[in-house]
Amino acid sequence: MRAGRGDSALKSVVLVGFMAAGKSRIGRLLAERLGLPFVDTDKQIVLAYGLSVAEIFREHGEGEFRSAERRTIARLLEGPRQVIAIGGGAYVDPQTRETLNTHATTVWLDPPFDLVFRRLTKSSTRPLASGKTPAELRRLWDERRQCYAMAQVHIRTSDAPAGIFADEILEQLVVLA
Ligand code: S3P
Repeated sequence: MRAGRGDSALKSVVLVGFMAAGKSRIGRLLAERLGLPFVDTDKQIVLAYGLSVAEIFREHGEGEFRSAERRTIARLLEGPRQVIAIGGGAYVDPQTRETLNTHATTVWLDPPFDLVFRRLTKSSTRPLASGKTPAELRRLWDERRQCYAMAQVHIRTSDAPAGIFADEILEQLVVLA
């Protein structure tokens, strides 16, 4: 791992948060503003397996997907500085969380539940959301917030244009540097 503590201007920036929090949309804009590459761990895993996330869950199981997430994140953190969007479950893993908080700057994107719920009902690509009742999703949301709260930067988001939140993250990164 390249960066250690205290050198946040060199560290990759990793966006964490619940499914449909806007990690990829905001991450892409943040990367543009920082002049860094953008990478999405779900996309990397999908490319490596030649299967969709839902197919990986179905054919190989969630455990295999989580191992792939851990490996992908470790590999990306070995590389040059970039903006990385990770899947909503990756930061819940204590080991991954520790690695990320040590070797990257972690940013929690935190939209209101109602917004996430509306977005998730329009999407059918997420195995952990499809078929869940609103109450089940709310429970998962409540459980995971305790983990996301361990990220170094907290950005409350809304359905306002993504660029606003990319700018807010930039301001926070300047404070940390
Ligand atoms: C997951 C979130 C998804 C994807 C997979 C599992 C989760 O990514 O990694 O479906 O456990 O929350 P997004 O957060 O981009 O939806």
